[in-house]
Amino acid sequence: MKVVLTGGNRGIGLALTQKFLKEGHEVTVLCRQSSPELSETQATVIEGVDVTNEASLQSAVDRVKECDLLISNAGVLIGDSYESFRFEDLQKQIEVNTFGPLKLVRAFDALLKKGAKVGVITSRMGSISDNTSGGQYGYRLSKAGANAVTKSLAEDFKDRGVTVLVLHPGYVKTEMTGGRGLIDTNESAEGLFKILMEKGLDQTGTFWHTNGEELPW
Ligand SMILES: NC(=O)c1ccc[n+]([C@@H]2O[C@H](COP(=O)([O-])OP(=O)(O)OC[C@H]3O[C@@H](n4cnc5c(N)ncnc54)[C@H](OP(=O)(O)O)[C@@H]3O)[C@@H](O)[C@H]2O)c1
Repeated sequence: MKVVLTGGNRGIGLALTQKFLKEGHEVTVLCRQSSPELSETQATVIEGVDVTNEASLQSAVDRVKECDLLISNAGVLIGDSYESFRFEDLQKQIEVNTFGPLKLVRAFDALLKKGAKVGVITSRMGSISDNTSGGQYGYRLSKAGANAVTKSLAEDFKDRGVTVLVLHPGYVKTEMTGGRGLIDTNESAEGLFKILMEKGLDQTGTFWHTNGEELPW
């Protein structure tokens, strides 16, 4: 399978890259800048790709011939509370976390043929019914937005035979969480890999935790 993913230079994206390669798939990573860990892998790396910049995504598409699985993984978290949130930070997270996946999918549209899959890594923090602790205004709203647009993509792509899945990677120890979390990146990638391989058109537009549990919106 030919896999294309964003943000594979570190964190969950790097672990996903390593997992897909280990299982014999071809991986192209789109990132702003590579890393020593990514350079050690067999992935094809396209640098200079910022998911907020459509021109950079388009230049990446021009270098990718086929894509069976497109994974939107790049994301940002700017922690906040009711007292501290700033609208410019909300805006920035919407640009990356909500518009980023949409720009990615639009750029790769012509490569998404019948049987292809799209996986968008959002977060259970984007689930409205699962929100019992408040705060994190920018991250929650940007990920809820990502959930909403991904669900629309799933509906719009059904007739084309393209499966679209919404994914939560777990609470994972990465730079984003300051190294805090319940699982490491490899465990997260194992679960995401399984879901991405196993779910098909019958499950398009559904929201999954890496542990295999279906999540509420
Ligand atoms: N860790 C968790 O517990 C957790 C929980 C739920 C959801 N998630 C989601 O999982 C995904 C991966 O997160 P992570 O924990 O692996 O975080 P991370 O270690 O901070 O990595 C974030 C990745 O996103 C990339 N990125 C950020 N903004 C970008 C942009 N504008 N254009 C291109 N790439 C950009 C980063 O690239 P640079 O190196 O260039 O900055 C990096 O590769 C994110 O969507 C995150 O929201 C994580």
